[in-house]
Amino acid sequence: MKTIRKAVFPVAGLGTRFLPATKANPKEMLPIVDKPLIQYAAEEAVEAGIDTLIFIIGRNKRSIADHFDKAFELEYELEAKNKEKLLALARDVLPPHVNCIYIRQAEALGLGHAVLCSAAAVGDEPFAVILADDLVKTHGANCMQQMVNIYDEYHGSVLGTETIDIKDSSKYGMVAGPKIFDGLSEVQQIVEKPQPSVAPSNQAVIGRYILTPRIFDKLRTTGRGAGGEIQLTDGIAALCKEEKVYAYSFKGHRYDCGSKLGYLQATVDFALEHPEVKTEFAEYLKTLRLK
Ligand code: UTP
Repeated sequence: MKTIRKAVFPVAGLGTRFLPATKANPKEMLPIVDKPLIQYAAEEAVEAGIDTLIFIIGRNKRSIADHFDKAFELEYELEAKNKEKLLALARDVLPPHVNCIYIRQAEALGLGHAVLCSAAAVGDEPFAVILADDLVKTHGANCMQQMVNIYDEYHGSVLGTETIDIKDSSKYGMVAGPKIFDGLSEVQQIVEKPQPSVAPSNQAVIGRYILTPRIFDKLRTTGRGAGGEIQLTDGIAALCKEEKVYAYSFKGHRYDCGSKLGYLQATVDFALEHPEVKTEFAEYLKTLRLK
């Protein structure tokens, strides 16, 4: 049995809900307080034991690679001024044993297509997919660690899921299948963005996946689905006909940072825990007259 060593980060979406901020920058570079979303995602993967990060980048390709690369001038300046704490923040973005690979998705043809772009780099092993705009806060093991634990025990693909209000089903891939225990079920049905009246359940897939390499064969033959895009959901629907796929309801709180409201909620909650600003920020919030 292979362990999960590689994570794919699709960051080539157009990010239209965040225009104009995403005109020249991917939304995954938006900061929550002082750290871009993509760094939270990379740290989650590394903590889960992953050492190869594969970024699927789009038209705004430079900033993600620059963020994880060495910043010679900045480091030189900070070193010359003896700003050691700041130097560490700029330099130690990833631990030295971690490798980054960048692959271009020439056209934003959908999440399924973005994942397929990683096939050669992933090879014949199970891998994680992390959508950095879903930021998950947990107490204890992080979301991907929890999923790796499930994979280690059940040896099949694992989808991170959460219970949603059924009226929002048309925003998500929705799954259904028999329960194994509270929090884990087998996926027998998965549908992309169904209307509430035809949603198979109230279990939504969020931006965390562990997939077996057979998904690539499925994605190669997956045509354009909802929204004219090649959907990862459709590839998973084909996969679960041939092998076990599990839906895991992670322990933690997810912020949909691809939407303005989720992004603002994450910003406030993370600021209230940030050692540098939490006290003053909490004081400031108290002064606001909430209508
Ligand atoms: P979203 O559905 O959030 O789309 O993509 P989007 O284009 O990024 O954002 P909006 O809806 O226009 O505001 C889900 C994830 O898949 C990636 C995105 O970067 C995001 O992490 N993605 C999507 C790609 O990498 N390539 C694609 O072709 C589509």
